[in-house]
Amino acid sequence: MSNILLTETKSTGETERLGFELAKSLNPDDVVALYGELGSGKTCFVKGVARGLSLSNPVKSPSFSIINEYPGKIPLFHIDFYRLEKSAEIEDIGWMEYLDSGGIVIIEWAERVKNMLPSKRIDVYFKILGNATRRVEIIAVDGSGN
Ligand SMILES: Nc1ncnc2c1ncn2[C@@H]1O[C@H](COP(=O)(O)OP(=O)(O)OP(=O)(O)O)[C@@H](O)[C@H]1O
Ligand SMILES: [Mg+2]
Repeated sequence: MSNILLTETKSTGETERLGFELAKSLNPDDVVALYGELGSGKTCFVKGVARGLSLSNPVKSPSFSIINEYPGKIPLFHIDFYRLEKSAEIEDIGWMEYLDSGGIVIIEWAERVKNMLPSKRIDVYFKILGNATRRVEIIAVDGSGN
């Protein structure tokens, strides 16, 4: 492990800003795994990443589709596993084809696919501290097994 950023945000704007800043250092084929309870700010962070990548479509929590694509210079594939719990369902939807596709993949509820994620990735942990406060920890995992 390397490159750990631990911070607290005090508004949605600050959480978006973190995603926006992270986007600047993302490259094609990067995978960003988001962990944390309901309402902890994952989708808010994705919005910032999308803005940081200059993607025009607003990013919404994918409520009907599990995978949303946002085309752009570097496309962003936003995958949300909230509605999928069974590993059979998760394996069925073919999301792994988006890894190594030249885009950036960002995954909500990454807890549910942790053993299928590439060992080189960026993990982002969200925790609700209060009404408007969130703890956000960003860890660049380098794949060498800590
Ligand atoms: N500092 C903060 N950062 C982000 N969101 C915040 C913050 N403070 C309050 N909020 C509120 O928390 C909620 C975060 O919603 P968001 O959809 O981003 O969560 P989520 O982690 O994607 O949840 P889900 O698991 O349901 O997809 C919003 O209602 C937002 O207004
Ligand atoms: Mg969400």
